[in-house]
Amino acid sequence: MTLRSSRTDINIRPYRELHTDIKGEAIFPRTIPPIHHKIAKLNLQVTDLAPKKRILTGDRPTGPLHLGHYVGSVANRVRLQHEYDTFIIIADVQALTTNFDRPERLAEDVRNVALDNLAAGLDPNLVTIFIQSYIPEIAELTIYFSMFVSVNALRHNPTIKTEAKAYGYSDLTYGFLGYPVSQAADITFCRAHLVPVGADQVPHVEQTRKIVRRFNELYGEVFPEPEALVSPVGRLVGLDGDAKMSKSLGNCIYLAEPPESVAQKVRVAVTDPARIRRYDLGHPEVCIIHDYQKAFNPGFVEELEPACRSAEIGCVDCKKRLIAALEELLAPMRERRAQYEKPGVLDEILRDGTARAKREAEATLALVRQAMKIDYWERWG
Ligand code: TRP
Repeated sequence: MTLRSSRTDINIRPYRELHTDIKGEAIFPRTIPPIHHKIAKLNLQVTDLAPKKRILTGDRPTGPLHLGHYVGSVANRVRLQHEYDTFIIIADVQALTTNFDRPERLAEDVRNVALDNLAAGLDPNLVTIFIQSYIPEIAELTIYFSMFVSVNALRHNPTIKTEAKAYGYSDLTYGFLGYPVSQAADITFCRAHLVPVGADQVPHVEQTRKIVRRFNELYGEVFPEPEALVSPVGRLVGLDGDAKMSKSLGNCIYLAEPPESVAQKVRVAVTDPARIRRYDLGHPEVCIIHDYQKAFNPGFVEELEPACRSAEIGCVDCKKRLIAALEELLAPMRERRAQYEKPGVLDEILRDGTARAKREAEATLALVRQAMKIDYWERWG
């Protein structure tokens, strides 16, 4: 057992550090994750010579995560957490861009999204999970970036356009139109290199790359140019077959969904419309369940395709195989979730993560101020 795995045993002993403002007065107590310090010391030669590259990605806490989030981004986070120093943002400020008039649910949604990520297999000893609104440096960076981002570029952002239409917005708020700038600050405050996201987020990463290039050109090299990592599975269609998985359409399976409800949703999902009776020949290329098999049961697909075309296998049996594969994925998630739901565990993980993110943000903003020549105390001193 390495040091790193000890924290999942729920054996956390944080200590408090008192922070002082410029005049030396205490501002607020912060939790520091002691285990990160120990790891940093133990791995000194390694980290000094070849610091790990960083990932930043995350979610808007507007509801529970579903299988679409899993294949689009979460699976990549879990897969890469050992290779990259991974930061997971719970983007509560971004959630406010559409939910500013109903903040009541945020506290619950923030917890749930954090739990979904941990249940999916992110190890809190490896990754830094934090809450966006507690990092004011992100808001600060957003303002600096906003000086040179054109309003037209934002208006033409395809994801902004699609979302504005979906929400029925005619007159966009400043915060909504500008959220890609804020997302650029999310990605750059920790100087991230890689951003695992679903395909709909690629325009935002593109926007971030432009901002980074412009910033570096204007003020000097501060940020690496981040790259999007999009899953090869592509977007997952909803169980109703005509849209992507989305909470608002009620056509998705949640990571925390109970087994019976998962099975029921798969049982009633549409398949190949031409397969009405058991012995009608199948067309896997038009069948949603086939897409799901490719994503969640890839080992079965080679056998399934000819069997479906020749009606050797029927939809009921095909769906049973999918239900079993989904259970294999989701059952361990339910178990892990129960561990993290024990009193105090999640709070500690989020406090530790947020404290580490805050330190990174402060370090980056010091570089930004220096580059932008607004580090007056240093200049005058
Ligand atoms: N916009 C993302 C979503 O809706 C969430 C998000 C916020 C994000 N900040 C980010 C994703 C930074 C990647 C990087 O899912």
